[in-house]
Amino acid sequence: MEKVLEEVLEENQVLAKHGKVASYIPALSKVNPNHLGICIIDANGNTYKKGDCEVKFTIQSISKVIGLMLALMDNGEKVFEKVGREGTEDPFNTLYKLDLPYIKKPVNPMINAGAIATTAQIKGDKIKRILELIRDITENLNIDYSREVYLSEKTTGEKNKAIAHLLRARGMIDEEPDEALDHYFKQCSIEVTACDLAKIAIFIANGCKGLKSYGEINRKTLSRNLLAIMTMGGMYNISGQYAAEVGVPSKSGVGGGIMAAVPGRMGIGIFSPPLDENGHSAAGYGIMKSLSRRLDLSIF
Ligand code: DON
Repeated sequence: MEKVLEEVLEENQVLAKHGKVASYIPALSKVNPNHLGICIIDANGNTYKKGDCEVKFTIQSISKVIGLMLALMDNGEKVFEKVGREGTEDPFNTLYKLDLPYIKKPVNPMINAGAIATTAQIKGDKIKRILELIRDITENLNIDYSREVYLSEKTTGEKNKAIAHLLRARGMIDEEPDEALDHYFKQCSIEVTACDLAKIAIFIANGCKGLKSYGEINRKTLSRNLLAIMTMGGMYNISGQYAAEVGVPSKSGVGGGIMAAVPGRMGIGIFSPPLDENGHSAAGYGIMKSLSRRLDLSIF
């Protein structure tokens, strides 16, 4: 495995040179584009790492999986009365369909609109509970959110503000839009490492075994929903292409992370900040393709 990791990193690192670090959230443009790391944890708990897998970066959209986990634990599958679980050909920050009269809810929890509508369903102190859940799963008590990235997104995230206000105007969220946004921006700013992502991924891949309480849902239904929705929408409008080329339930974030859960087998966390034209880590995507081929990871 050590040799496989070394080779897939070497084969794909050039892809980072063709990508661009996200700059629409100003604080993200400061990250070092040369960081590249991978961590894999198998079902027996063996950990394999290579490169910058202990460097912290913001989780961004990968937090949508955790938000969905908590919303399902709080409400069971009633969550899907307010957000769909279908695929989409639209990018992550799509807005226009929310204003079509026949659209009653965002298409899935992986696009920004769907994530805001999902987080809005978490009970109590949302960010505290999201942080606690990630700390529990990763056994990393230092997990917190970056105030700098949070404020950077809060002061510039006009598109997300438009989405939240449209959601409210159309009655798709009950919460005040600015409050819903505040939680969403905070959850996106949570700092993790590639190894933290691998721990979350193996937790999901292992049928969400290990939590003290699952609230309103049983753990098999929880993990099946997470894996299915990651497969259908985790890579947004190229989820179908990714399913064919990689075939592993995954979620990416504009911070450069990819989290991939191979059911019953392994959790993978990758970090490389430069993004491709669809907003996914360019080297991360390449690494997932190589790994899937070499280790026969596709679920299809
Ligand atoms: O809402 C945003 O635009 C960011 N906080 C998260 C977007 C993101 O990570 C898209 N993923 N590839």
